[in-house]
Amino acid sequence: MLRDFCRLNLLILTISAINVIAVGLFTIYLLHRPQSKSSNPAECRTLIQAHRFRAAKNGLSPHISRIRPNARLAFVFGIENAFTTPDEGYADYFVKNARDLINLKAQDWGNLAKTLRSAANKLTSTAHRLHLASLVQSLSLRIILTTLLNAELDTIPHAEQHMITLAQAINRAWVSSKNDADLIDFAHNADLQASLSALFPTYNKTDPRDNPLCWILPGFETSWRINLRMVLELMLNTGQSHPEWTSTMIAFAHSPTKTQFEAPGGDGVSAKELVAEGLRLYPPTKRIYRAFEWAEHGATRSDTFAADVEACHLSGGIWGHDARKYNPLRWRAVTDAQKQAYLPFGGAPFECPAKAVFGPRMIALVVGVLVDAVQESKGWRVVDKDGKDVSDVFCGERLKNDRGSYEELFLVRVAGGV
Ligand code: HEM
Repeated sequence: MLRDFCRLNLLILTISAINVIAVGLFTIYLLHRPQSKSSNPAECRTLIQAHRFRAAKNGLSPHISRIRPNARLAFVFGIENAFTTPDEGYADYFVKNARDLINLKAQDWGNLAKTLRSAANKLTSTAHRLHLASLVQSLSLRIILTTLLNAELDTIPHAEQHMITLAQAINRAWVSSKNDADLIDFAHNADLQASLSALFPTYNKTDPRDNPLCWILPGFETSWRINLRMVLELMLNTGQSHPEWTSTMIAFAHSPTKTQFEAPGGDGVSAKELVAEGLRLYPPTKRIYRAFEWAEHGATRSDTFAADVEACHLSGGIWGHDARKYNPLRWRAVTDAQKQAYLPFGGAPFECPAKAVFGPRMIALVVGVLVDAVQESKGWRVVDKDGKDVSDVFCGERLKNDRGSYEELFLVRVAGGV
């Protein structure tokens, strides 16, 4: 009896000690956890303005605060654009140019859709096995090259292959930019330079303002990953039980007008809402960084803080219990808190010029053209690298949002497909 009592006491003591240690460790974690990230929407919007973050009042100008975290981009891609230039006047000029270039007329949208459909049909008409990510990259790049750089891709021999090679070279350079050990500067990146020269033989390699990547990176790097995820959502995930969503996107690809973009489809959901939900669940820019310098106890301190866009988009407290599910119906009734927390195109004063029209519609166009070209009814299905069908692997859960995911998916055409 006494021995049992002693054992019980010992057990209670051990549990209490574990509790004390756990609370202690948690307190130490809270005190020392990195303060450099915010997932509070109001705080994120203030941080993006770059004047103040919590107690730190920024001594840097908003422009310098914004470009400083992008120094690696300038080094790795050899670009000088609004994201990297120290010259604020040139940044304003670049943004104005971007606004003009993406301000397409109704007829331009029609032509773009035709070009894209014909490229997709060419790619899929004879092939029996296609690398899905490369197909998405090639169509996403085509929109950017045609609209922003006026590239006449039909006159360039093997343009399709060059675009895929360029997309891969950009991807490798991007990955290298995140890792000190692999960092290669543009001047020494022969692959990247060669793939650019194949499409732009006359650009001046020594002038960072003339580098086509200045125009390619802001739209291509952001759009191909969201495009791939939307294709997967529609073909293999939540869209499997909502075939009308795919029909809505295809309808927009055939008639890329404002009216069609906003028109409710089969179950009342428009292409605009389908894209908005894609951008919420899979924001291409997951974090927006700002450099800060401020005075503290007589010394100058500096740090880089991040607005965690992805966390704002996935917060259950703001978006509800199904925050991590693709549910375009939520866009029927959006609250003010949700509007505040929605930041796929950043916020004032550096808000993306493609936010209102070009960005969302170019996503809808690539996705609509692609799901149309590789519909199951045309004999296509998606398989992994071993040829195994993947139509039942996603189960309605959120897809991965990192760069390398879904690199191992292929489209194959089953016998008898047309
Ligand atoms: C899905 C497509 C796109 C997404 C998700 C996107 C996202 C963003 C984000 C998050 C920012 C804010 C960056 C910051 O505050 O540091 C931004 C700014 C900007 N974006 Fe986009 N973007 C897209 C397409 C494009 C395209 C096609 C262009 C055309 C050139 C473009 C040009 C710009 C420019 C010039 C800025 C800087 C604006 C300024 O400094 O005032 N973006 N974009």
